[in-house]
Amino acid sequence: MLEHIPAAPPDAILGLSEAFKQDPHPHKINLGVGVFVDENGRTPILASVKAAEAALLAGAKSKSYMPIAGDPTYRTLVQELVLGAEHPVLAASRARTAQTPGGTAALRVGADFLRKFLPQATLWLSKPTWANHRGVFAAAGFPVKEYAYYNPATKGLDHTALLAALKQIPAGDVVLLHACCHNPTGVDLTTAQWQEVAAIAAERGWLPFVDFAYQGYGDGLDADRAGVLALAARCPELLIASSFSKNFGLYQDRTGALTLIAANAQAAATIFSNIEIAVRVNYSNPPAHGGLIVSHILTTPELKQQWLGELDAMRHHITGVRHQFVDALKQHGVPGDFSFIARQKGMFSFSGLSDAQVAWLRVERSIYIVGGGRINVAGITPQNIEYLCTAIAAMPKV
Ligand code: LMR
Repeated sequence: MLEHIPAAPPDAILGLSEAFKQDPHPHKINLGVGVFVDENGRTPILASVKAAEAALLAGAKSKSYMPIAGDPTYRTLVQELVLGAEHPVLAASRARTAQTPGGTAALRVGADFLRKFLPQATLWLSKPTWANHRGVFAAAGFPVKEYAYYNPATKGLDHTALLAALKQIPAGDVVLLHACCHNPTGVDLTTAQWQEVAAIAAERGWLPFVDFAYQGYGDGLDADRAGVLALAARCPELLIASSFSKNFGLYQDRTGALTLIAANAQAAATIFSNIEIAVRVNYSNPPAHGGLIVSHILTTPELKQQWLGELDAMRHHITGVRHQFVDALKQHGVPGDFSFIARQKGMFSFSGLSDAQVAWLRVERSIYIVGGGRINVAGITPQNIEYLCTAIAAMPKV
């Protein structure tokens, strides 16, 4: 029955990591998957996380099941991170959160829930977007369309086209927005532009679904909320998928959350009961470990301070690498203005490399970059920047 099934293509991002591992080239560089890499080329466990894990291990008493929606303390803390502790939505009990295995499961649970109750809705993604967004929403059964976002000519936001596109989206559809550190472009909205988007959402009556995978990597933990706050101020209903892979470095512990904001407390409770059903039929209840780490850090003042410092350090490191990369490209005589790389936010730079150049770098130089030209800036280190820029200077022009 199964023999006729053809092989699936390798994953656009995680597939690269597999190919990278097999590559024997001594100078190979992985600029594919979005993981933080320090100046020594390592993805370290944060010291705050190590300390929390030690405390949790010493105090652990049971591995019994979690509630379907996860640990109650974690769920409250996530809401405070996402909205700020003093937000009126929290005071009005309009938010409900489910702990999920990573941001991807938050997207998928949200997608399954929405698909069930909004069977007529189309799901809109920015052009371009994270390679897995389409897969997640299509797997839930959504028809998927794209809205204009990026202008390759300016390497920035196509503000006019974005607003025009969002104004065309019918009431009742769902629009996926990146809260900060847009993946793959690194091009974010200003606070004023977020207010325009929120006004259109409220006026048109489409539902914003915010992917918040990089809180703290853009302009800082608080500043990165600007989009969510603008939407929450105008839209009665909103979904937010959080990931703690990047900001706590908990990639393999699959630590995320889906937050629902509803028009009032009663609606929030009623609607959320259906999100719990979507969880139960997917993975029953979430893995505990990552959420317990986050909760322990956020409720232990000295660990929280330590984590905030570590998060700031990761953000500053990437900003520094952006500038080094721009300077090094210039020094190597690579033609063009690369100053846009220093302006982009978060882990990625949409480099402007063509697919042919991405393929050349991989085949000829063992440098791994995601199709479309997305570079994980954090993957550039003092040890590999010379090799990388020499290769870019030597690559074909198209
Ligand atoms: C990325 O975009 O590289 C990360 O979000 C990792 C992933 O799962 O694709």
